[in-house]
Amino acid sequence: MTQIPLESRLPTTYRIKEIRQETPMVKTFTFDGSLGAKPGQFVMVWLPGVDEIPMSVAFDDGAHTRITFFAVGGMTEILAEAKVGDLVGLRGPFGTRYTWDPGDHIVLVAGGYGAAPMYFVASQAVTHGCTLEAIIGARSKEHLLYVKELESLPHVSVHLSTDDGSMGFKGYNTNILDKLLNVTQDAETQDPPVDKVFSCGPEMMLKSVLTICDKYNVPCQLSLERYMKCGFGICGNCTVDPLGVRLCTDGPVVKGEVCRKIAEFGVYHRDDLGKKNAF
Ligand SMILES: Cc1cc2nc3c(=O)[nH]c(=O)nc-3n(C[C@H](O)[C@H](O)[C@H](O)COP(=O)(O)OP(=O)(O)OC[C@H]3O[C@@H](n4cnc5c(N)ncnc54)[C@H](O)[C@@H]3O)c2cc1C
Ligand code: FES
Repeated sequence: MTQIPLESRLPTTYRIKEIRQETPMVKTFTFDGSLGAKPGQFVMVWLPGVDEIPMSVAFDDGAHTRITFFAVGGMTEILAEAKVGDLVGLRGPFGTRYTWDPGDHIVLVAGGYGAAPMYFVASQAVTHGCTLEAIIGARSKEHLLYVKELESLPHVSVHLSTDDGSMGFKGYNTNILDKLLNVTQDAETQDPPVDKVFSCGPEMMLKSVLTICDKYNVPCQLSLERYMKCGFGICGNCTVDPLGVRLCTDGPVVKGEVCRKIAEFGVYHRDDLGKKNAF
């Protein structure tokens, strides 16, 4: 396990510099400071007297940190009311990151707020000579996130899917992944072979990504979420059966071969009290 410095384990307050309303339920906050996060890592977001919750880092350029979140419950609905200039506590960065080699051809599969960390990956990977196919899926066109940002990057082709067909392919983003891998793994075509697939989004989508990657024998890295409290490996709340690995330190980004050994992957997750909840 990488040693996490004391200052990362304690919250530091950062001022909100900019707020972007992405969709009626999704906001992006830009904070006036960097935590030195890498793509795939997360931070613990703290509102004193309310709660502290994990959020993927949507971007960190060495000067600013960004998070993109859905207002879904007690903490996130209150967080969504914050204004530019307000202070928020952040701890981290924690966890593993997506890893690639220079010049890789990478497919990104994003669902929900997973589009934010996928943009963070793409923005860094292109600087290492990588080419990327970014597949973003949502229920309908209003819910698609980070489309313009991904389209603005060089060497990134964007593919969209919506469940209702209001934009892009009608169906799941994983249907597009299947088609892309089917073509690019064919030696007769001109398309470069896919070196890696990265994915972030709902767990049932990740399960489908793993199945498709196994079918075409392409390595994948998936971001898994479990209930997190400490964020750096001491409380044990985020361990998964039967391996006992802690997803806050051994994850959230986990290789496909490890996911395959997690019996609860796509089956159940545990709440704050350790009780099992089916997906
Ligand atoms: C590594 C990681 C990265 C995440 N990144 C993002 C992100 O970028 N954007 C985003 O919108 N959401 C993200 N989440 C989910 C986010 O943490 C929950 O949506 C949030 O905690 C909800 O809290 P709430 O109080 O608003 O809602 P609640 O009503 O309290 O909870 C709603 C649901 O959120 C989940 N949740 C609540 N607290 C936690 C917790 N401490 N740890 C894990 N899950 C929890 C539970 O499944 C719960 O049923 C991430 C979760 C993890 C584990
Ligand atoms: S959140 Fe405490 S060990 Fe992972």
